[in-house]
Amino acid sequence: MSVAHYFETMEYGPAPEADGEARAWLERHEATFGHFIAGKFATPHAGKHLSTIEPATGKALAKIAQGAAADVESAVGAARTAQPLWAKLGGHGRARHLYALARMLQRHARLFAVLEAIDNGKPIRETRDLDVPLAARHFLYHAGWAQLQDREFADQVPIGVIGQIIPWNFPLLMLAWKIAPALAAGNTVVLKPAEFTSLTALLFAELAAEAGLPPGVLNVVTGDGTTGALLVENPDVDKIAFTGSTEVGRLIRQTTAGTGKSLTLELGGKSPFIVFDDADIDGAIEGVVDAIWFNQGQVCCAGSRLLLQEGIAETFRRRLIRRMETLRVGPPLDKAIDMGAVVAPVQLERIKALVETGVREGAEKYQAPGAIPSEGYFYPPTLLWNVHPSSTVAIEEIFGPVLVAMTFRTPDEAVMLANNTRYGLAASVWSETIGLALDIAPKLLAGVVWVNATNLFDASVGFGGYRESGFGREGGREGMYEYLKPKAWSGRKARAKVTLPPTSSDSAGFGVPSIDRTAKLFVGGKQVRPDGNYSRAVLSPKGKHLGEVGEGNRKDIRNAVAAARSAEAWAKATAHNRAQILYYLAENLSARGDELARRIGDMTGVSAAKARAEVDAGIERLFSYGAWADKFEGSIHAPPLRGVALAMHEPIGVVGVACPDEAPLLGFISLVAPLIAMGNRVVAIPSENHPLAATDFYQVLETSDVPAGVVNIVTGDREALAKVLAEHDDVDALWVFGSEQASAAAERLSVGNLKRTLVDHGLALDWYNKAASEGPILLRHAVQVKNIWIPYGD
Ligand code: NAI
Repeated sequence: MSVAHYFETMEYGPAPEADGEARAWLERHEATFGHFIAGKFATPHAGKHLSTIEPATGKALAKIAQGAAADVESAVGAARTAQPLWAKLGGHGRARHLYALARMLQRHARLFAVLEAIDNGKPIRETRDLDVPLAARHFLYHAGWAQLQDREFADQVPIGVIGQIIPWNFPLLMLAWKIAPALAAGNTVVLKPAEFTSLTALLFAELAAEAGLPPGVLNVVTGDGTTGALLVENPDVDKIAFTGSTEVGRLIRQTTAGTGKSLTLELGGKSPFIVFDDADIDGAIEGVVDAIWFNQGQVCCAGSRLLLQEGIAETFRRRLIRRMETLRVGPPLDKAIDMGAVVAPVQLERIKALVETGVREGAEKYQAPGAIPSEGYFYPPTLLWNVHPSSTVAIEEIFGPVLVAMTFRTPDEAVMLANNTRYGLAASVWSETIGLALDIAPKLLAGVVWVNATNLFDASVGFGGYRESGFGREGGREGMYEYLKPKAWSGRKARAKVTLPPTSSDSAGFGVPSIDRTAKLFVGGKQVRPDGNYSRAVLSPKGKHLGEVGEGNRKDIRNAVAAARSAEAWAKATAHNRAQILYYLAENLSARGDELARRIGDMTGVSAAKARAEVDAGIERLFSYGAWADKFEGSIHAPPLRGVALAMHEPIGVVGVACPDEAPLLGFISLVAPLIAMGNRVVAIPSENHPLAATDFYQVLETSDVPAGVVNIVTGDREALAKVLAEHDDVDALWVFGSEQASAAAERLSVGNLKRTLVDHGLALDWYNKAASEGPILLRHAVQVKNIWIPYGD
């Protein structure tokens, strides 16, 4: 072929990356691997192996060990032994190790990039330019947090042994996202890579040991989902961090419920890619290519739903199809291809089936016309046009190179369509009008929003979802907190069981009795009778009848949740406005201080001085949250690009709160105030034994300009009512402070819509200890961080 021929056709020739070194590494191990435990490869106890394939050819690639219970136990044991020593090494010592890991990745960058492309099927262009450098960046960035830990996280301690389970779409990058913050914070790790793609994790562990990482700090146990489940169930694991399907995330939520293990879940998505009619169309089309055809669309935050403003829809379609004609699908090691192979036959079948369903349900299908290799698992870039919002392909995560498109007319309709999903991982907004883009971004229910950009990631910017995309953040300062726990919560003791006294008869004889008053429920700003028309007696410690409160039931909770949901304006109220109302609450509580102190004394039997001290602490706490309301305000990240990422603190939404029995007023205020300070609406179940402090408090609420529905109070059987809140799909988060069983039930039952939960496992907090019960320690749970990326310049 002559140069002139190439000049005329402008065809690409093959440009393969050499794979000799990666193949030699496989050969050195005879393409058969054990687990990596306590600094070396270990033969699997049961001796079983799984075969993995090379997606680009369908040929066998390696054998990885199938982890059995004994393997998981020995890995967890090694991590447990290493943990205190690793923590004791101190921030600087760990920083040096993390820095060494970053340098190790950079030294072996090409080997990792090639091995990842072979094992996963993704293009070398991506592994070389994104996966590996970004993994190195994560270690470098987190070396920094380790170095600064003593100062920046002085009130926190490491959690212990962390079990981490990762998927196959970014095997090395997910490893870095998981282990870098965990190790930086002083934890040790047992990592279970995905069964399709375990090789770069094994290479990493081997080279990390060579780079001097102490034995047991990082252990890798390979195998399929059953191995993952064994890790989740292991009682000596203190936390599970999982990335993968929402289905498995739910299982893990249920298994870990009530065990005391902390949990972060990074799950699926169906992220919108919104293009307004004033967008830079060429830029947006390149954005689409990156949003959905990067990594064969096997990206949890892939911009898989294209929402186009009607006026530009037709030209966008034409130009996008033209761009699709130039996309090249081919062998991952070819440096000039755009898309490689899908990870496995099962994934390919799933993609094909979903596309067929989409077409059956009315979509028009366009596919890139370029040739596709005849062997291996390839699927062409695909566009489904005219998709109805209720179509299966508009709802289900396809996890493949398939874009579904629909149109909208107005910005409000765009927001409605964008949020019409159970997920909430990411979103992309395209408009040249900065005012419009920045107006839309906060309205999108997603953990990450890219303005005129897509799929930007950095270690300094938290990543993670809203709603059924999971909870917890990876990256940034907020990501570090996922691997730390408050020092002040370490000494908590199990709450003593209270036995209620029998009612004593204290007839007033023929004296004049006090006027009977039964405290009602407080829903939507009004005092309302309980639905069942039952009430329950409130007794003093000696059994004296102090009054009655409403016996709330399922219907009352539903009404309260509906009232809270409709008080949405509170989330948009200015922080200044919320601060003012919190101060006003303090003022009005102060005016009724004596009355409330008497009430607390009667209910709990504490001295008058102690009861007064509780009221005073409550007033001070309201002041504190008045102060925090306009100061717990997010940050600006400086990722390596021309632009910024705004980390916004957004309210979670409607939050259920079950309050403890101790300190019935202070406990109630300590939990409700941080939530409303951040713009949440609350359905609170007050102390079951001493509810009158809270029901008196609603008179304070009524006189303090708190809008109707922002705080709702339902009295009654705390555990039964908390369960109703846990199962309610319109409740976004649940805080349960009470018994161990109530905590377990809250975690287990919240699985429906994957609520964020904060529970105390029956361990009592000292509500007077500010370090343990006031400020960021709770405010962090009252917000979710949304990162809005705003690149600038041309
Ligand atoms: P998966 O959720 O089954 O696998 C992810 C990881 O979890 C793997 O390491 C797997 O071995 C492990 N695992 C599986 N079952 C487990 C269990 N019961 N307990 C503990 N660990 C377990 O995802 P899979 O089957 O690989 O992919 C299925 C679908 O999930 C994809 O088509 C895609 O829609 C979605 N997915 C989403 C990901 C994301 O990043 N959000 C990543 C991977 C898959």
